[in-house]
Amino acid sequence: MARFFIFCILFIFVPFSLNAALYKGQEEFVNACVGCHETRQHFIVTKNKKEWRELIENGGEKLAQIHLDSFNAKDSHDYFKSKIFIENSRHLMQFLMEYAKDSGNVPACN
Ligand code: HEC
Repeated sequence: MARFFIFCILFIFVPFSLNAALYKGQEEFVNACVGCHETRQHFIVTKNKKEWRELIENGGEKLAQIHLDSFNAKDSHDYFKSKIFIENSRHLMQFLMEYAKDSGNVPACN
């Protein structure tokens, strides 16, 4: 089931290259988050749109804080303190919104 799910996700992701903002968000997510949150895209569906929005609004303030407060996430501290994160957070938000638990995009898989 899990494999099937990943397959579906990859399948859905292909047309993303047509949508620059979403693509940027996906790229950012893969580069910046997947290394630690290795459940990959599954991780996105653990939260609904509202929860992601709250974490990522204001340039990702809250999300950055969670990581900066955690010793276990210390490898991400430079990233979360960087301008790159703030600049890319809006793309990231768009990507996460698109695939949040309640977005309706994930379970359809077609
Ligand atoms: C260096 C590893 C690392 C990176 C990179 C990283 N995280 Fe985390 N993240 C963690 C750790 C460790 C925690 C747990 C923090 C705690 O509660 O102590 C965490 C917690 C979280 C949480 C809150 C926990 C939850 O499930 O509610 C969210 C949401 C999150 N990360 C999202 C992201 C996103 C999005 C990115 C990419 C922009 C990212 N993380 C990048 C290590 C990382």
